[in-house]
Amino acid sequence: MTIAEVSLQQQQNPMWGDDWATVRSNWTLTESVLHFNHGAYGSVPKAVRQHQMSIIERVDQNATGFFRRELELLLEDARLKAAKFCGADPHGFAWVKNVSEGMTVALAAMPLKVGDEVLITNHIYPAVKFAVENRCRAVGAEIVEVQIPSSENDEELVSIIAAGITNRTRLLVVDEVASISARIFPIREIAKITKAKNITLIIDGAHALGTYEVELDTLGADIWLGNFHKWMCSPHGAGALWAAPQWRSKLNPSSVSYSDRKPYPQRFSRLGTDDQTAVLSVPAAIDFLSQLGLERVYAHNSALANFGADAVAAAIGSTQMPGKYGARRRVALPGGIVNDDDAAYKLQREIAEQLKTELSVSPPMTNEEPGTLGISAYVYNHPEEYERFGQALQKFLAKRK
Ligand SMILES: Cc1ncc(COP(=O)(O)O)c(C=O)c1O
Repeated sequence: MTIAEVSLQQQQNPMWGDDWATVRSNWTLTESVLHFNHGAYGSVPKAVRQHQMSIIERVDQNATGFFRRELELLLEDARLKAAKFCGADPHGFAWVKNVSEGMTVALAAMPLKVGDEVLITNHIYPAVKFAVENRCRAVGAEIVEVQIPSSENDEELVSIIAAGITNRTRLLVVDEVASISARIFPIREIAKITKAKNITLIIDGAHALGTYEVELDTLGADIWLGNFHKWMCSPHGAGALWAAPQWRSKLNPSSVSYSDRKPYPQRFSRLGTDDQTAVLSVPAAIDFLSQLGLERVYAHNSALANFGADAVAAAIGSTQMPGKYGARRRVALPGGIVNDDDAAYKLQREIAEQLKTELSVSPPMTNEEPGTLGISAYVYNHPEEYERFGQALQKFLAKRK
């Protein structure tokens, strides 16, 4: 029997409540695996997938009718509902496939030139860093990366970013909830600085939706990118692009299509023939989580992640990394076992294969910090899963030495 093969369906779960077994049965998760990596790819509940499949069936029944007469209206309806959920003026809110596409689009619109500086932090998502590097290389701009240690201190974080600004800084690209570190950034405080210094602010909000309530119109950003397919449980390929009024006419989609002559945001709605049932299912995902109770979901996931990381840390004689987090926490790994990407990948794979547990493993973010395990929690998780995993991990690490 694997460590995950203990039936959870009959168990009480005081952290969620009496209806937990019913709630978990909303997902088709493989029961023999512990799922602690929701932040990476989300997980689509049955009801949301069924909604998507019902649209796909309509496409199959009459593709011409769907693409010619239905799709535009459906996309617009879904866009308006999603914008409302994000606290966004619908005029500023467009569909993209994911944050990767949205970031590429946003960076392409930046009027950077030789000698300009683009400020980033060491918490940046690696693919977003590639996008910034590519854009800087194309125009002769320079990247300045500031190092933010793991800490709960927001003032220190803001002052490190402020200290990285020079009279050549034109753009700051910063996470709202970082990927590897899972750190929540004090975005509103950061936005006050960029506004005062006339620096453009692009926010990577890939993990924000579904972690807490967002209010895009009041953040103070120039451009914000987000995903519904992580913590909002929509099908994959449902990203959001929000732009302040001065940027809207400057943003161009990743491909030129029939929508090209339309104004923003409709210019982004149909980029050639494609399967857009993921964004069309975003309202169903919003409804699904709203029925569970959004505040309940946010509070539960954060509390369970905290509990889970403490349980795992205690089992291996370690501690959680300091910081301000949503539904993902990091546990310090014993010194030296993960010092680079290859070692992180290897350990992650061993844990997945031998302990039947999906989580993330990352190398140290600064010279002073250890490699870490990234542990997510979602409403389908049970506190006992983390305790069970902690014990298995302790034995596994002892043998692996
Ligand atoms: C912080 C952050 N930014 C951007 C991305 C890219 O998102 P996507 O793969 O949906 O384009 C991710 C994906 O995990 C992420 O964690």
